[in-house]
Amino acid sequence: MSVVTITPAVHGLRGTFTVPGDKSIAHRALLLGAIARGPTVVHGFASGADNRATLAACESLGVAVTARDGALHIDGRGWDGLRAPATTLDCRNSGTTMRLLAGMLAGRPFVSRLDGDASLRRRPMRRVLEPLARMGASIIAEGADGRAPLRVEGRPLRGATHVLPIASAQVKSALLLAGLQASGTTTVEEPASSRDHTERMLAEFGTRLTRGPRAVTLAGPQELRGANVRLPGDFSSAAFLIVAALLVPGSELRLTDVGVNPTRTGLLDVLAAMGASVLVEPEVGNGTEPRATLIVRSVPLRAARIGGELLLRAIDEFPILCVAAACAAGRSELRDAAELRAKESDRIAVMAETLARLGAHVEELPDGLTIEGPTRFAGGLVDSHGDHRIAMAAAIAALVATAPVTISDADCADVSFPGFYDLLAKAGGQ
Ligand code: S3P
Repeated sequence: MSVVTITPAVHGLRGTFTVPGDKSIAHRALLLGAIARGPTVVHGFASGADNRATLAACESLGVAVTARDGALHIDGRGWDGLRAPATTLDCRNSGTTMRLLAGMLAGRPFVSRLDGDASLRRRPMRRVLEPLARMGASIIAEGADGRAPLRVEGRPLRGATHVLPIASAQVKSALLLAGLQASGTTTVEEPASSRDHTERMLAEFGTRLTRGPRAVTLAGPQELRGANVRLPGDFSSAAFLIVAALLVPGSELRLTDVGVNPTRTGLLDVLAAMGASVLVEPEVGNGTEPRATLIVRSVPLRAARIGGELLLRAIDEFPILCVAAACAAGRSELRDAAELRAKESDRIAVMAETLARLGAHVEELPDGLTIEGPTRFAGGLVDSHGDHRIAMAAAIAALVATAPVTISDADCADVSFPGFYDLLAKAGGQ
């Protein structure tokens, strides 16, 4: 377990940077490439630990993936190209890997077993197992209360209509992957729109699907054809640098080629409500995922109330948003975030603990936090709880603290943002 100490910034963060390729989209590119017929090329693959878990799973399923000329080349042989894995597929820390694989393997004619680290073994899997069972899937949860390890006994599937009780891109994607192999029509309806990377990429891979407001329908079975995918920079990684540049006086950062899919960019709207305007210069003509250069300058922030659909569009940005709120003048409220308790850590409890340790006034609610600012963070020791986004949020808080902050288990940042601490140092943080 690595320990990193970050000292307060002595001058503004400056420069032009590109953040690693989008983790969420990369998982989909690998899995769709694995089941497609024909070659798929993935540009901008970042090799964070979560994405490496999906890559290793594809290889264990008999799919040849080679790194060549700065891109990943996937030799897709169609659904029938997948082979029974010889060993358990280790999804490590990645909920997306486990849930999407559950849907993808549910209809294959072999048995596979999915497992992960202690955090992933704690995360709820019934939300994907129950709707898959209604399509005829047989997936046995070996952990307590429907938790991993999962034993997937592949069998023929039938289409179904699912009305999800909570918006979840992972559940939606798992059901669509199952629906692609099923006989008949599969519809997934959500109470609010979760990220739509799967729908966009399925269309890119030649899938026929129809999209309505908060619903998607496809008829199975369908074969996919390989595609050329250029991953944008990960907005959720850019988020840490955006907030850092806003908070550290005298900063100006340009972040190029960042994915700005509107289902992901709620943070920009929240920050606008807090008085920050991030300049978004769209880049044109680059595939199905919108991308842009973001230009951020430091500015004092004011408190905001955030909940509902806006919070959903910033779901992975909750930890760094808490840091921004703690530095903002006034009482901020972040609500409707109960889902955050079932992420890589209980992000509501862990952020309450982290902010309190750094001297912020914070109150924990069942579905979020209230935070009273502005706080001048104290230095000290914080525990990432093995959660990449907590470690990176604490590192950004450290830049505006009065003394160094030491983060335990800090190397978990590699889960989504390989090279995070180096990039931060290059921008002027230590
Ligand atoms: C993800 C979906 C989100 C998000 C997670 C990645 C994905 O979870 O929090 O980090 O890649 O599909 P939900 O399934 O809760 O939407």
